[in-house]
Amino acid sequence: MDLNLPRTHSLGYSIGEHKFNLGLSLAPMAGNTNVAYRALCRRFGAELTTTEMVSSMALRHNDVKSLGYLAKAADETPVAAQIFGADPETLAMAVKAVQQRGFHFIDLNIGCPVPKITGGGGGSALLREPQLAFDCVAAMVEAADVPVTVKIRAGWDDENKNAPEFAVTMQEAGAQAITVHGRTREQKYTGCSDLELIQRVVAAVSIPVIGNGDVSDIESAQIMADTGVQGIAIGRGALGKPWLFDQLCCYFAGEDIPDAPSVAMRAELVVELGTGVCELYGEQRGMRVMRRLAADFFHGLPGAPQLRKQCGQLSTLGDLDVVAKQLALITA
Ligand SMILES: Cc1cc2nc3c(=O)[nH]c(=O)nc-3n(C[C@H](O)[C@H](O)[C@H](O)COP(=O)(O)O)c2cc1C
Repeated sequence: MDLNLPRTHSLGYSIGEHKFNLGLSLAPMAGNTNVAYRALCRRFGAELTTTEMVSSMALRHNDVKSLGYLAKAADETPVAAQIFGADPETLAMAVKAVQQRGFHFIDLNIGCPVPKITGGGGGSALLREPQLAFDCVAAMVEAADVPVTVKIRAGWDDENKNAPEFAVTMQEAGAQAITVHGRTREQKYTGCSDLELIQRVVAAVSIPVIGNGDVSDIESAQIMADTGVQGIAIGRGALGKPWLFDQLCCYFAGEDIPDAPSVAMRAELVVELGTGVCELYGEQRGMRVMRRLAADFFHGLPGAPQLRKQCGQLSTLGDLDVVAKQLALITA
């Protein structure tokens, strides 16, 4: 693959002892970025992975299902645990519970737009409460033996795009890096990530800024890199396409960009992922998760609608094997 783009960038940063050459990370996505999916992305070059968000209140009460979201692989280094909440004391207790499990960073979610989370004052609701957000992060930093980071949105709504000032507050509270998704809470996932705003965050703080939103290929990654960010977090663009990390690593390193894997190889990846997800959750719950994750691997392939429909009915690893065999027969 040959793209005639300039490949200039300011990517790469360090947090404590951890050095990220290009700072390409997998963005946390509830229901998707389980330990098995993260392993695939790491293999293709994601330098940092993060768990799905976990409730600090649930961790305080040792909730078994929430603790399950903190599963990590022994060789997953470095990996961040993401927590949400809006009570400094509870967040500090959650930090203690999380760091016992060997995470290298603890990330506070200040971006989730879902009413179930914002209703309790957490997620993006904290964007409207900078003092409380400061207290939350300061309490986490105080309790933590590892670096604390935050992930924010552009602001609550168009009239309140306060990400640059808010980022300064987070830095003053002790956050050691900040990921910015350039959409407001009101936008949820509509419109586009505001790159000019991300650029203003970069100018406002001295900690590493990781740009996020709408990066799904080399062109969009280059455009994000042009904002001056030190890292890029990729969410939806990496679903069903973990090899995107490999392509981006090669592109930014000035090397030849590998083609996407053959469909036969993709079929192997889907089965490997399904096996890992079932080890994690058991076959019944694991296959419910795979209905969505497997379907993403079929995007743009001939026969995709039919195969995606079949993915929606997966209930055993055997079913997944059948779909994968059909995938392997497709000549893209
Ligand atoms: C299904 C889904 C689940 C998500 N869950 C989380 C989450 O648990 N924590 C978080 O900080 N962001 C979460 N996000 C937001 C993503 O991390 C990311 O900020 C957003 O999707 C924009 O980036 P993208 O365009 O690369 O996907 C989620 C997004 C999606 C689509």
